[in-house]
This record gives sequence, structure tokens and C-alpha cells, in this order.
Amino acid sequence: MTKPTRRGASIAHIGIAVRDLDAILPFYRSVLQLEHVALDESDGARIEGLAAGDSLVELLEAKDPASPIGKFVAARGPGIHHICFAVDDLDAALDRCRAAGVRLIDQTPRLGAEGKRIAFIHPSSTAGVLVELSDR
Ligand code: CO
Repeated sequence: MTKPTRRGASIAHIGIAVRDLDAILPFYRSVLQLEHVALDESDGARIEGLAAGDSLVELLEAKDPASPIGKFVAARGPGIHHICFAVDDLDAALDRCRAAGVRLIDQTPRLGAEGKRIAFIHPSSTAGVLVELSDR
């Protein structure tokens, strides 16, 4: 049986801000049995990648309290930090954002933890969710 193919963006990863990566890791590794995926550090955060089907869970622990994750955890506690959608054409997607009046955090793409180009969209344009777009 083949999976139905759907058009549009797919969920690349969900970024979860944590206080203590080593303390929460056994839940994801041993209980949910998600496989480790090596990722680079990004934006002042230590990142543990875990494969969940075709998507990743990224556990993000601030290395520096002044980093975006450090500030998020200080203000709101641990929790879902952002959702990343992979798109076919990141530049075209950012153009569509601009045309629609969507507020971008990153005006031009930069490299993310998976070594792909990414750009963040401001939560004020996305019902309060920090959205990251990435190349596939
Ligand atoms: Co991300």
C-alpha cells in the first residue's frame, strides 16, 4: 500500500525547549524508542534530534541564558518552542509570506541545525506559534 501523496509543506521537526536534556532524554529514547539523529548546535542551544516517522523531535537546551531558548524557558518554562515546515522552494515560500503581509523574523534564509536553509516567521502572524520554514 502506498502512502497518499499530499501537496504543500510537511512537518520537518518540532522544537521542544527543555531545561535539562539529559533528564528528559530517557522518555524519548527508552519509552517512545525514538532513534537519535545527529544535529549541529544552533542559536546557542544544545540539540538532541530524535526521528519520529518522517519528522524529527528536536530537544533544545540553552547553553547560554541569553540565547533564544534560554529566554523562552525563563519566561514560559519548558514546552513546544517551534514547528518547522519543510517546503519545496524556501525562497518562493518567503516571497508568498511577504506578499501576504506575514511578518518574517529572518528576511533571508540562514543555515539551521540540519545544515539546511531555514527562516523563522514571527508568531504574531501564525496564531502564536513560532514557525520555521526549511528547505526539504
Ligand atoms: Co528548528
